[in-house]
Amino acid sequence: MATKIVITSGKGGVGKTTVTSNLGVALNNLGYRVLLIDLDFGLNNLDVVMGIENRVSYDILDVFEGRCRVKQALVEIKEHKNLFVLPSITKTVSSISGQNIKLIIEKVNAIFDYIILDCPAGIDVGFHRAISIADEAIVVTTPQLSSLRDADKVISILKSYRLDRVSLAINRVRGDLILENKMMMPSDVEGLLKTNLIGVLPEEDIVFLSSGGVPKNSSSYKAYKILSQNLIKNTKKIYDTTSKYSGFFGSIKRGLKRL
Ligand SMILES: Nc1ncnc2c1ncn2[C@@H]1O[C@H](COP(=O)(O)OP(=O)(O)OP(=O)(O)O)[C@@H](O)[C@H]1O
Ligand SMILES: [Mg+2]
Repeated sequence: MATKIVITSGKGGVGKTTVTSNLGVALNNLGYRVLLIDLDFGLNNLDVVMGIENRVSYDILDVFEGRCRVKQALVEIKEHKNLFVLPSITKTVSSISGQNIKLIIEKVNAIFDYIILDCPAGIDVGFHRAISIADEAIVVTTPQLSSLRDADKVISILKSYRLDRVSLAINRVRGDLILENKMMMPSDVEGLLKTNLIGVLPEEDIVFLSSGGVPKNSSSYKAYKILSQNLIKNTKKIYDTTSKYSGFFGSIKRGLKRL
């Protein structure tokens, strides 16, 4: 039976799709069978982020309306055996409920270890549809105030769903700004939102449009590896974004980043 994890945030553009794809790759790198489902109907872009947009034959609507079986709609990522995407619908559809999607997922539940659900922004019907399918949630926020306020609201709504676990991932964290007291520290964000922190993900100028995932020598690769391990083992190791900006060479890097 797969564990179904929804990646949500309230606020748009904070990194839900980025976290969905990179966490999927990280879990797959650890040997797990992973299915990513884009529940952002109409504004879907997980297919593009995962580099499969030209290989999509069927989507969730085709499955729902009986034009194909679930397995026919799944697209396997070339570079990653056992990492699949169930493509989203390219138009807004309100006729598909969370229960309908649950029934679709049930047919492939046994062949995956993790099913990661990419939730739309906002807290309306698409949000509730995605949450109602999940066993647990990861709330993505950035350290900015507007994002934190939305995350707080989402966390309080999630309480009514009685999920097995609600965790926090802070995205776009800049160690150089933390050291200069210009960005909130992850531990402070965790305290403010009163939610267990399982991932600190650095701001990184790398190309995120990569189905193979982020490069192995990048900070993001390490950060997502830690996030996936925390998720599986229920541990609390946190990626330190400040270490590369500390000390003599670190302060030079910090100075260069300002230029
Ligand atoms: N850690 C990061 N460092 C740099 N850029 C990032 C990071 N995380 C996300 N981005 C960029 O931010 C933009 C928004 O990310 P993404 O699409 O994942 O957000 P989203 O929450 O899914 O948005 P939406 O609410 O519209 O679905 C993208 O261009 C993505 O590449
Ligand atoms: Mg998105």
